[in-house]
Amino acid sequence: MIKLPGLIDPHVHVREPGATHKEDWDTATQAALAGGFTTILAMPNTTPPIFDEKTLDLGLASAKEKARCDYAQFLGAGPDNASLAAELAPRAAGLKMYLDSTFGELRLDDMSLWMAHFASFPKNLPIVLHSESRTMAAGILFAAIYDRPVHIAHISLKEEVLLIKAAKEKGIKVTCEVAPHHLLLTAPSSVPPASGGETLIPPPFTGGARGGRLEVRPRLATQADVDALWANLDVIDCIATDHAPHTLEEKDSENPPPGFPGLETALPLLLTAVDEGRLRIDDLIEKMHTNPKRIFNLPDQPETWIEVDEDARYEIRSAEQFTKCGWTPFEGWQVKGRVTRVLLRGKEVVKDGKILAKKGFGSNIRE
Ligand code: DOR
Ligand code: ZN
Repeated sequence: MIKLPGLIDPHVHVREPGATHKEDWDTATQAALAGGFTTILAMPNTTPPIFDEKTLDLGLASAKEKARCDYAQFLGAGPDNASLAAELAPRAAGLKMYLDSTFGELRLDDMSLWMAHFASFPKNLPIVLHSESRTMAAGILFAAIYDRPVHIAHISLKEEVLLIKAAKEKGIKVTCEVAPHHLLLTAPSSVPPASGGETLIPPPFTGGARGGRLEVRPRLATQADVDALWANLDVIDCIATDHAPHTLEEKDSENPPPGFPGLETALPLLLTAVDEGRLRIDDLIEKMHTNPKRIFNLPDQPETWIEVDEDARYEIRSAEQFTKCGWTPFEGWQVKGRVTRVLLRGKEVVKDGKILAKKGFGSNIRE
């Protein structure tokens, strides 16, 4: 048995309000606890999006009623809410800005709209950017001009990790995260790796009958991109799931929405990478606890830890998950390492696959 600190996932799409058939605060936080996460930060691209006092109150009311792990809620950057977002910042996880194609209505194309947010959002919290390739470079330039922290969500490309490395060397206040799926999956046309790991030989992921299960933003990249992420892990501050549940019916439809669930698969997949010698356990703790805690200014959780049976070998099965969405891109993967027990603020909240925390046990870490 090994003991790890309670994991923090700074990138979760809870789907409440507005799409509770995909997920809600109850199921998302059960999935989080089952996956070893004791704190999650919730994204604002809900329906309605969370961007003012009324919508923040609405989202936080559901969270207060239903959450079983600790949490905070991001505000979304819209075309005209910069001063309001700055006022609400103490109640928020941070500010999320969508600079590229995404799910929902929060995309901001005009750079003059970014300027107001960069000028006014408090500097003790990062602005989190959904940015890809050249918009990421633009976002880093904004961090330099306004001399403030930005956190780049879900990096996926070699060019991105290399530019972040160069920006950090210049002293620009940029941090970043990678999602397990961008470390472990490639776009279907990509050349396979020269040698697979012993246990991480996955069944082919074809994306379902119409290929819709492959849809995710940023898209899955090439093997060269994946190799560059692994080779530059020291540049990557956090591993965040970007848990983005959509139902299997939606994923297999004519118009599949982008996104993968990830809360329950991240830790077993990464423990398997540790077992294979591709990642050190200290790096896992740094990227899934220490760094997100520092970057997002999160409080200590006393008497909080997770216990893992590092020798347990099993197959990932969506039927065993707590998420409502009913599928995982990692179906059938052989992994090594299982969460057996979770303590949160002195209370046993997971034991042998059962969630013991009640609805409402989770607390808003910004309150
Ligand atoms: O794949 C994605 N899913 N990328 C996004 O930017 C949004 C997310 C979602 O909310 O489904
Ligand atoms: Zn996301």
